[in-house]
Amino acid sequence: MTGAGTEAPSGRTPSEKMPGPVTIRKCEALREMQACFALQKEVWKFSDAELIPVRIFVVASKIGGQVIGAFAGTDDKKELIGFALALPGMRNGHSYLHSQMLAVRQQYRNGGLGRRMKLYQREDALARGIELMEWTFDPLEIKNAYLNIEKLGAIARRYSVDQYGLTSSPLQGGLPSDRLVAEWWMKSKRVEAVLAEAPRPKFECRARIDVPAEIYAWKAAAATRAQALAVQTRNRERFHQAFAEGLSVLGYERDANGNGRFLLGNWDESLQY
Ligand SMILES: CC(C)(COP(=O)(O)OP(=O)(O)OC[C@H]1O[C@@H](n2cnc3c(N)ncnc32)[C@H](O)[C@@H]1OP(=O)(O)O)[C@@H](O)C(=O)NCCC(=O)NCCS
Repeated sequence: MTGAGTEAPSGRTPSEKMPGPVTIRKCEALREMQACFALQKEVWKFSDAELIPVRIFVVASKIGGQVIGAFAGTDDKKELIGFALALPGMRNGHSYLHSQMLAVRQQYRNGGLGRRMKLYQREDALARGIELMEWTFDPLEIKNAYLNIEKLGAIARRYSVDQYGLTSSPLQGGLPSDRLVAEWWMKSKRVEAVLAEAPRPKFECRARIDVPAEIYAWKAAAATRAQALAVQTRNRERFHQAFAEGLSVLGYERDANGNGRFLLGNWDESLQY
């Protein structure tokens, strides 16, 4: 996922009322793929060279990937206000899905739509016998980390340094595009407990990695970018060390001031917790 949404922990409810009932379904028509392309441009503001072209959305929908759309409004006037793009992957003979993009139009965020589209992706994947979905996310993104780890139940135990190089998207704030790899073991007891909002077994937290709420502001201004880079560099070292010790990201805390904290412990493969 190319995720980097500069959203400070203000308004936790959508800033605008959804324009009517929202339907989440597969995109099929070419104009729907073009609408996804346009929303990609609106959300990430990439240069043309970095935009994923319409043809990849078309191909992804034909080769076992996913192009999922959130459509709001009444029958005659349906507006695409969110999308998810996933590509089929293969590792050690196992097929899985790599979810490259998840986006919701700014004014409709924090209303649960992001999570609903992920649940739709999961349903479709499990129906096709696919149990693993992966995506990358910017570990400096407090909201995305909270959504991925706490609201969806993903884990992380791989860190990719500067995965895309310096990107043209202002959301990256001119920082190296470091990414954590989210692993969503969609049939695991952990994910089932999280999605059912059922209690999950406590794990022994063996490491904590902090992200200050100021990171959004620091990234957004040239004068303070060095402070954001310092946090990224420090945390990069800490993730590398923790993962080298066999730890995994299993929890995420956010406090009332909007600060974020990764909680790392031992992911028990057999227990799937
Ligand atoms: C990421 C994105 C798709 C999420 O969509 P969304 O519809 O806003 O997500 P949801 O409403 O389902 O969930 C967001 C959760 O994060 C919480 N949240 C919002 N801002 C937050 C913040 N700054 N810090 C911590 N949590 C935050 C919300 O409260 C909500 O949790 P809750 O349901 O417990 O209240 C959307 O923000 C987006 O398009 N971002 C830009 C593109 C991007 O970064 N995509 C990659 C994602 S890895």
